[in-house]
Amino acid sequence: MITSPIRCLVSAGPTREFFDPVRFLSNPSSGKTGFALAEAAAAIGWQVDLVSGPSALTAPSGVALHRVESGQEMLRAIEAHFDDCDILIMSAAVTDYRPRSYSESKLKKSSGVITVDLEPVPDILQTVAARKTRQIVVGFAAETGDIEKGALAKMRAKQCDFLVANRVDRAGVGFDADTNTVILFGPGDEMEKLGPADKSDLARILISRFARLIERQKTRGANSAAEPSPPLIL
Ligand code: C5P
Repeated sequence: MITSPIRCLVSAGPTREFFDPVRFLSNPSSGKTGFALAEAAAAIGWQVDLVSGPSALTAPSGVALHRVESGQEMLRAIEAHFDDCDILIMSAAVTDYRPRSYSESKLKKSSGVITVDLEPVPDILQTVAARKTRQIVVGFAAETGDIEKGALAKMRAKQCDFLVANRVDRAGVGFDADTNTVILFGPGDEMEKLGPADKSDLARILISRFARLIERQKTRGANSAAEPSPPLIL
């Protein structure tokens, strides 16, 4: 029997919100986590579309890379691929606010204070998760303070099946680092601490956890007299 590959949509990197041709708001995300996830997913035979904001990294082998700049462009690219995917992994560090206006010409430097009005960028994850059918949705959360409380609230608000939370209040982990420590929250209130580990090792572990849920859903779909499923062992 020929089965079609799992279709995986990953977002990565920061987004940039320009307010004149040479100035923008953004964050220090390198894209390493998203690129590592795309690579790990392709390595187990998944068909991967990677939507990335500006990043110096190159497309992992076998991955279709779609480069975008702003949050609006990322939203459009994710929406374009979402209906056909089996799993969305939203690891991009989307810049939350954008300037309300854009100046076609470079703003003159003045010696005084300038004010830039900001408005929220649409929440991509929340927008697409609201129309999910079979898709598994994975969110990320950079947290300070009480990780668990913040992550669980985010997971519910954004209708995620998994949420990968990481601390950003300690040196050497998180943004632009090669290693990370995360807590993975699963669909039945499971939680698992992973790391500290190299981002590519973490990516392989995370993809294996997501694959387990996809496998379980497939088995339940094939078995129409579905019995109550046991908790997913992370
Ligand atoms: O609310 P917060 O920004 O912490 O949520 C993080 C999660 O939401 C990440 O998965 C990120 O990719 C996603 N996100 C999004 N659109 C935004 C902001 C965050 O999809 N505008």
